[in-house]
Amino acid sequence: MKNINPTKTFAWKKLQNHAKEMKKITIYDLFKIDNNRFKNFSINFENTILFDYSKNIINKKTIFYLLNLAKETNCIDAIHEMFYGKKINITENKAVLHTALRNNNIDFFLRNHQIYNDINKILKKIKNISDEIISGKWKGYTNKKIKNIINIGIGGSHLGPLMITKSLKNYQNKLNLFFLSNIDATQLINIINKIKPEESIFIIASKTFNTLETITNALSIKKWFMKNINININKNIFSKHFIAVTNNINAAVKFGINENNILPLLSEIGGRFSLWSSIGLIISLSIGFDNFYQLLQGAHKMDNHFFYSPIDKNIPIIMALISIWYSNFWNTETEAIIVYNNNMCFLPLYLQQLNMESNGKSIDRNGQKIKYQTSSIIWGDVGTNGQHSFFQMLHQGTKLIPCDFISSAIPNYNNYKNHHVQLIANYIAQTKALAFGNIKEYNCQKNIYYSCYGNKPSNSIFLKKINPYNLGMLISYYEHKIFIQGIILNIFSFDQWGVELGKKITHSVIKKLNENNYKINGNDPSSEGLIDFYKCFN
Ligand code: F6P
Repeated sequence: MKNINPTKTFAWKKLQNHAKEMKKITIYDLFKIDNNRFKNFSINFENTILFDYSKNIINKKTIFYLLNLAKETNCIDAIHEMFYGKKINITENKAVLHTALRNNNIDFFLRNHQIYNDINKILKKIKNISDEIISGKWKGYTNKKIKNIINIGIGGSHLGPLMITKSLKNYQNKLNLFFLSNIDATQLINIINKIKPEESIFIIASKTFNTLETITNALSIKKWFMKNINININKNIFSKHFIAVTNNINAAVKFGINENNILPLLSEIGGRFSLWSSIGLIISLSIGFDNFYQLLQGAHKMDNHFFYSPIDKNIPIIMALISIWYSNFWNTETEAIIVYNNNMCFLPLYLQQLNMESNGKSIDRNGQKIKYQTSSIIWGDVGTNGQHSFFQMLHQGTKLIPCDFISSAIPNYNNYKNHHVQLIANYIAQTKALAFGNIKEYNCQKNIYYSCYGNKPSNSIFLKKINPYNLGMLISYYEHKIFIQGIILNIFSFDQWGVELGKKITHSVIKKLNENNYKINGNDPSSEGLIDFYKCFN
């Protein structure tokens, strides 16, 4: 992986000039001059996912220059280095192995068979635990069946499992799922008011096992649990109700977790890339191990596409380049994810961490301050709801906001066909309205405020159906898109040092809030004023 400043590449300079030309052309014009535009700017991936990127302000020259940018910044070598287990996570001196989690073809990727043995051992453990709990074989300490699974985790130990289990609601069994992530105790209180300890299993999901929110929540749950059980019935109660998923085995044992109930999480798996690992235990519990494995297989399918496809047919590379086209040559600041599938409502949240924790960086791989845009702000919501809240700005605002519109041709329900027809009609109509506006057929003089000038770009990602396999492909696609953006932008995408300072200051503010005479260093009147206001009432 070379550390190339993208602005120094020949392609970058070409793109800067090309952008000036493209600002004189509209999407409307681009369709007018190419009858085959949809065919030339879309990829139908095995009739399972249609990637339509024709409603963008791009032409063949744009793609040519963008592909040259990918070549000049050595993307293909970087792909191979990641898949072959090279330590490309240089700032943490680690390989990046989330693709190994979903690959059973040992000779294809990693030559390091030990890692594969570890991964397969963990997969077996996920399957055994899932089968035992789902079948009812694993009982609580009073011999009752388990009804509730509570995942205690945050960030990548929360968002992936939350998004996947919600997106695959139709595949869920009868287990009640709860996600305890925030330190705000309202979440914890809401959960313990709904469950009985003897019917519940708590998964403490934390790669480091020292994230303040997670450990505090876990300790409070443990205290509540011990207070609400009859300790005389069974001594090894804890092992029937507490599981840990972590890279920090010692800390989990110290917490009181039985070693048999600890599922390791390899240190080479980044938190935001970990849903495929033992962090995905609650996914397997909720949809069954076979469906969890289908999710992995779908991701592996997209991994193969990403690894083998030539760059001009490589979906993650093309979509990464289109994002860079807008953020670095059109100065867009945000990208919107609009998903026309209500169960996938957490996808924008999940992609926020995946994108912004990976590429929200400002120092390049040579240690130099970056003078160009890196990660965009990722936001979004479900369609059609977004149409009744922020779409006004997408259509008539002053900001250019590229959007990913995502939906599935086959609904997750059998009846109410008319609902799905309306959903898909909106999904398609919105991209059309954004691209072409109404000024060609509407006399804007009648009411200038009604006019929509169009030329608002979007990608349409149209899945055949939302099932574990296809969802695995979609998430893998986004992981690889973000990876390519980081390679081209010459940043390290797999660390997140920026989150440590806030955590550190929190510890000193906690001391100050709890004690009167504690002095926070780096005194600032604002924080002191806020602390004083808090102390007025507590
Ligand atoms: O603080 C950010 C972060 O480290 C994320 O990268 C991670 O997914 C989350 O916190 C939770 O970390 P852990 O799984 O170690 O509790």
